[in-house]
Amino acid sequence: MPETLTVTDNRTGKTFEIPVTNDTIRALDLRQIKVKDDDFGMMTYDPGYTNTSSCISRVTYIDGEKGILEYRGYPIEQLAEKSSFMEVAYLLLNGELPKKAELSGWEEEIHHHTVVHENIKRQMESFRYDAHPMGMIISTVAALSTFYPEAKNVRCAENRRLQIKRLIAKVPTIAAFTFRHSQGHPYVYPNNKLSYTENFLTMMFRMVGNDYEPNPAIVKALDVLFTLHADHEQNCSASVMRAIGSSEADPYSAWAGAAAALYGPLHGGANEAVLRMLSEIGDVSKVPEYMKKCKNGELRLMGFGHRVYKNYDPRARIIKKCADDVFEVTGRNPLLDVALELERIALEDEYFVKRKLYPNVDFYSGLIYQAIGLPVTMFPVLFAIPRTIGWLAQWAESLEDKEQRIQRPRQVFLGERERDYVPMEQR
Ligand code: ACO
Repeated sequence: MPETLTVTDNRTGKTFEIPVTNDTIRALDLRQIKVKDDDFGMMTYDPGYTNTSSCISRVTYIDGEKGILEYRGYPIEQLAEKSSFMEVAYLLLNGELPKKAELSGWEEEIHHHTVVHENIKRQMESFRYDAHPMGMIISTVAALSTFYPEAKNVRCAENRRLQIKRLIAKVPTIAAFTFRHSQGHPYVYPNNKLSYTENFLTMMFRMVGNDYEPNPAIVKALDVLFTLHADHEQNCSASVMRAIGSSEADPYSAWAGAAAALYGPLHGGANEAVLRMLSEIGDVSKVPEYMKKCKNGELRLMGFGHRVYKNYDPRARIIKKCADDVFEVTGRNPLLDVALELERIALEDEYFVKRKLYPNVDFYSGLIYQAIGLPVTMFPVLFAIPRTIGWLAQWAESLEDKEQRIQRPRQVFLGERERDYVPMEQR
């Protein structure tokens, strides 16, 4: 069977043989299809990139129809149950699970970079008392590039590895500082004797003179949440990371761009939007009215639907179990009943069933964060911390990919052309 596609252009009657590799054709192979010799040639039009591969990747595999998510070939269910977030980070970045010594060496290296320059702290102190933590973290991480100017040497693999470690280590410190700032509490410095997740919780919640010890069940749940959010192949923010990286900008600036993409309510801001929605609904009795507005197209049911998963989001199942474990420690979140009722109705309702809209990872994560004591404004930050791993893995992969070039899509131009300038008084 020939691995080609035969295309007949009915405008000219000409036939073209287009090679097929991995069920994909190269868009540039269509350029030869022209009516006149001086035509530009055929392009594809794909707003939102719903059927366009922008890269070859070996990091994360998703089968949206079957609800499969694998990091470097390992199913997310097994990683969430058996692994730790630091181990998953090593796996995503290096391609293989670490041996014992490799893991402890990796954790040690991350510990080594958790502190931020005092000027970073001072810069953060200058934000307004009610500054949104995402705005704070995006601008602060971007500012890190001024502290590490050598980071722009992105073609040097060793330099890249150093910046990767710095970012993974410093993002939780800055994230915790944004929270302390919003509370008006002194910033807590990292404690390198603690695990990644314990350290983050401690920087968030330790009060002066108080020997805060995070509850192991909450540490475990947060570690699982971090694992579930670590990567998700070519999503909006990872694509931004790759796009900015393609111009060879430093990884701190690229991280800031990716985090800005994550902040939107249709992406990582969805968990914040879910909680606002649940609070707005407030009570189970109001659910049918809200659902009606969703079906009329007046509102979106936040935390539902996914560009890729069209049967279920495997992360949502794991998170639901996580929520139960956390609520055992913190007490049940009263909004859980509203969420369960929304889910129950949506899974039976023709509108949602027909459009294959199922709970996504963000439907329950916000309830857990709230139970842990976090305000909704911190939710997207809690997403950005683990997604740092995915962004960096994707960024490093793209820089090593010889086929990648600066990202520069084409357009179908339908605007005005060749008009003569009209002087102001004649308009
Ligand atoms: N509530 C109600 N209707 C919806 C929803 C929703 N959450 N999501 C999609 N639909 C409807 C659309 O109105 C559309 O209906 P139509 O065919 O009658 O016009 C149909 O389902 C298809 O929707 P699209 O917007 O075309 O789907 P797309 O794949 O572009 O969007 C997205 C996916 C952005 C996630 C969307 O489902 C959404 O907005 N969900 C709510 C926000 C959310 O939870 N985002 C988090 C995503 S997961 C993540 O980033 C971690």
